[in-house]
Amino acid sequence: MKKNTIRKNLLKIGLGALGLLLFTGHATNAQTPTLTLDFAKPGANVSPMLYGLMTEEINHSYDGGLYPELIRNRIFKDNKTSPEGWSLVREDSASKASIKLMAATTENIPFDERRHAINGALTTCLRLMVEKPGGKLGIANEGYWGIPVNPSTTYKASFYMKGSGSAPPRQRQGQQPLPPAPVIEDNTGGPITVSIESKDGKTVYASGTIEHTKSIFWKKYELTLTTGADVKPSADARFVITVNRTGLYYFNLVSLFPPTYNNRPNGNRPDLIKLMAEMKPKFLRFPGGNYLEGPLITDAFPWKTTLGPLENRPGHNGSWGYRASDGMGLLEFLLWCEDIGAEPVLAVYAGYSLNGDHIDAGPLLQHYVNDALDEIEYVTGDVKTYWGAKRAADGHPAPFKLTYVEIGNEDWFDRTNSYDGRFKQFRTAIEAKYPSLHCISTIADAQYPDLRVTGSNKPEVLDEHYYRNSWAMWENASQYDKYDRNGPKIFVGEWATREGAPTTNLNAALGDAAWMTGMERNSDIIIMSCYAPLFVNVNTATATAPKAWQWDSDLIGYNALNSYGSPSYYVQKLFGNYLGDKIIHTTAENIPVQPRPLNRRDSTNGITKAPLVPTVFYSATMNDKTGTVYLKLVNTTAKKQPVNINLNGVARVSPEAMLFIVKGEKPEDTNSITEPGKIIPLSLKIKGVAPNFKRSLDPYSVTVFQLQISK
Ligand code: AHR
Repeated sequence: MKKNTIRKNLLKIGLGALGLLLFTGHATNAQTPTLTLDFAKPGANVSPMLYGLMTEEINHSYDGGLYPELIRNRIFKDNKTSPEGWSLVREDSASKASIKLMAATTENIPFDERRHAINGALTTCLRLMVEKPGGKLGIANEGYWGIPVNPSTTYKASFYMKGSGSAPPRQRQGQQPLPPAPVIEDNTGGPITVSIESKDGKTVYASGTIEHTKSIFWKKYELTLTTGADVKPSADARFVITVNRTGLYYFNLVSLFPPTYNNRPNGNRPDLIKLMAEMKPKFLRFPGGNYLEGPLITDAFPWKTTLGPLENRPGHNGSWGYRASDGMGLLEFLLWCEDIGAEPVLAVYAGYSLNGDHIDAGPLLQHYVNDALDEIEYVTGDVKTYWGAKRAADGHPAPFKLTYVEIGNEDWFDRTNSYDGRFKQFRTAIEAKYPSLHCISTIADAQYPDLRVTGSNKPEVLDEHYYRNSWAMWENASQYDKYDRNGPKIFVGEWATREGAPTTNLNAALGDAAWMTGMERNSDIIIMSCYAPLFVNVNTATATAPKAWQWDSDLIGYNALNSYGSPSYYVQKLFGNYLGDKIIHTTAENIPVQPRPLNRRDSTNGITKAPLVPTVFYSATMNDKTGTVYLKLVNTTAKKQPVNINLNGVARVSPEAMLFIVKGEKPEDTNSITEPGKIIPLSLKIKGVAPNFKRSLDPYSVTVFQLQISK
């Protein structure tokens, strides 16, 4: 009797606990697994913001990715010593010319060479010195692993330019004698040719000219370049500015923009917006991630200098080994949210940087708290506020909806325990000014119990991060079944199954899907979740550019021309598109299990017997108004897996249903830039659905059953 009660209670627990408790000791389970969906028992609400996206500048997500500027190093600050991405074009060996980086901030160069700043942001420029013209002569930019060309496409080119001749350098009193310099006649006035051409210069895809008026003052030039209808798509192109006269030509803020999503100036790359929008994300977490924090305190995301005209954006040191142009600035992030129908989840810098430096709570931190308040005002303030008026001046008078603000990122790295005080100072100030906002803590009790934010300060929402392999995802897919229902809400702000590079493979997608069933079943406490990283430029190293990505196993891959979704992407898309608003209480019996290989952590923990992990995972939600049920099932094995499905408490079920399936032949199967469609969802209409029915899950598959019921 007692045994039966225990067994009944176990059946009420979710999948994972069940799998681990009931099936320990079995390598498989010969009986058919049975899922019982109980429609008579009212289920909790599915969080309306359950699935979203997370983004930061990593893997060339913006520069060389979503932000479609085609010129690499457009303000010449990417490298302090050489004009990275740029080269001299000189086809006639009888000509004489050179290029040189002119940095206003570089010491030990003659004063005359430092006088070329346009303003405080554009302080470095490129000088083309032509002593003897001849043939094709000028400067070329290689773009982000090539400039993409497409037929019948109009590109917007612009650049700042000035010109001069050269006199012998002026030697100042007390200065070392200057090296001899050529005297060059100023013939810079006249036509300047701008083109997009093949890398070898043999094919010109689009070309135009501007008329330069001889002047030693900077002037902005703009023109459009249109390719012919017969141009074949290629990323093997470069951007070139050529001259045919002597002189010193100076260039800055050189830009080439292809068409953008909805043709918005400084807008987004259309194919990537489409891929994201099709996932139906409810929010976008930005600007990081590590990118929020920066390597040093001085490298935190400088949102104020990412606003307004590009001329005012100096860029900053990114967190992933390359400089950010900040073309993707705060307003662009917000407009991106609008492009994909998502709400911003704003992460504000909380005084901790990646090298471990931090600013203690107290007067020194107040500057950063004020900065966060300003940032929130820019996002949400009406036009009568100082920062709301700035946003209006930047072209967006309407405030953006904001519900959640995250204080920092991964502050568990700060082992000084300073986060408790820092979080409190930010939260108190934010809630005082914006009582409707909810502050997220980046230290999760479950992951870092020793560092938890404490006392009266107890956060409402905790951000948990998980990067795991598929075994660990399968083993932990039920972890949220056991979470305290009265504790803080959970934001799984970064997570991924890390298998496959640069984008994930099918096995990773099976790990993801199992993990998502656990989040979905528990979406009364998991209020938001987002996979990371979102983007990867998949280019490998070339003679002139390094490998484009820093982090393996990403969701969406692209090069200059094309993009694709990984198997994980398609699983995300299925989960985001087929989701109800109520969780259906579901119990499982006879879930098969398999032994997980032992790993290094096991040996550290003295575990010598392979733990058993489930091979079938599930979650069920329902749209309460329409009676549409979404039952998600994952089979992680190579075998077809029959499953009994019982729909208890339904008056009627439609005999026809739709299935949406992501599957493959082997776990390593994947999509790539050359084979983007190997693993894509397929849909299937089935018949014979009844209150009790049986269906076989395909090997290595994620299946969404879309059923129609009435209660
Ligand atoms: O997603 C990649 C990185 O992983 C993020 O920048 C950081 O928050 C985490 O450690």
